[in-house]
Amino acid sequence: MKIVIVGSAGRLGTMLMRDYQKKHEVVGFNRTELDLADCDAIRKKLGAINFDVLINAAAFTNVDACETERDRAFLINCEAPGVLAEICNDRDAKLIHFSTDYVFDGDKHAPYTEKDQANPISVYGESKLAGEQNVLAAGSDHLVLRVSWVFGPDRPSFIDAMIKRAQQEEKIDAISDKISTPTYTYDVAAMLPQFFDRVAEGGILHFANAGKCSWQEYAQWALDCCRDAGVPLKARTVGALKLSDMTNWAARRPVYSVLSTGKYTELTGAAPRAWREAVVDYITRFYSKK
Ligand SMILES: NC(=O)c1ccc[n+]([C@@H]2O[C@H](COP(=O)([O-])OP(=O)(O)OC[C@H]3O[C@@H](n4cnc5c(N)ncnc54)[C@H](OP(=O)(O)O)[C@@H]3O)[C@@H](O)[C@H]2O)c1
Repeated sequence: MKIVIVGSAGRLGTMLMRDYQKKHEVVGFNRTELDLADCDAIRKKLGAINFDVLINAAAFTNVDACETERDRAFLINCEAPGVLAEICNDRDAKLIHFSTDYVFDGDKHAPYTEKDQANPISVYGESKLAGEQNVLAAGSDHLVLRVSWVFGPDRPSFIDAMIKRAQQEEKIDAISDKISTPTYTYDVAAMLPQFFDRVAEGGILHFANAGKCSWQEYAQWALDCCRDAGVPLKARTVGALKLSDMTNWAARRPVYSVLSTGKYTELTGAAPRAWREAVVDYITRFYSKK
């Protein structure tokens, strides 16, 4: 298959590039090679090449910056994905577009299914939801994959920041009243190819590792795994912070945004592995000194 990956230098995009290059012909575009804020450039560059699948892993992901740069957020997260979907339609290719748990308001307190009403409470969430709608309006067989709390070896995320702090400080803390589920980029890369075919399932699909946790539990598990893997740390436990303590955040975040992966299991017969198992795997592979 000929695959194009937009956002090829991001946390998820880099993992997908590395994995799919082993089996497919893959062309990647990082931000310098293709700026999603320039729709004419998108048409010109992608209009000139042929492919079977286009994966969009690029986005304006700085949730707080989106609040003050609303137009830019909508350009990159909403208009550009619509253009990508049209380009895919022209060559009968499939678009796989990533979205987020932040399309939900967090009031449900039970795992969100694909049928639940989205109600974003931030500009980031609004722009991502509008992007989903643009993609699916262009073709209901394109796939919008919502993920949450993405982590992986190619760009530091929350878990890496916590481990780094625990290596430098005696006491660390993390938010205990915000709940979702980590999603390992390695697991996304492994499961995605079954959706490459244009006739494979389209529409909205949720994918994350199984289970749920707070940021405090996530960070504590990361430290426990580091200790088991022989990674030297100064801090042993993670103290609790409240979401309401984060007064320097410009954007509101959903307090609860666990994604139900029931539809994924129904479609594939497989269940994502537990988030704790995915974290063990990550730390053993990328942090272990043993
Ligand atoms: N990270 C999470 O926890 C999380 C949670 C839920 C959903 N998601 C979604 O998952 C997808 C992948 O996110 P990620 O974690 O891999 O984030 P990431 O590491 O921030 O990757 C996003 C990529 O998009 C690129 N980008 C930003 N503006 C661009 C523009 N104008 N033109 C072209 N490329 C641009 C960035 O370029 P630079 O390399 O120059 O920064 C970066 O490489 C996104 O759709 C995101 O909304 C992420």
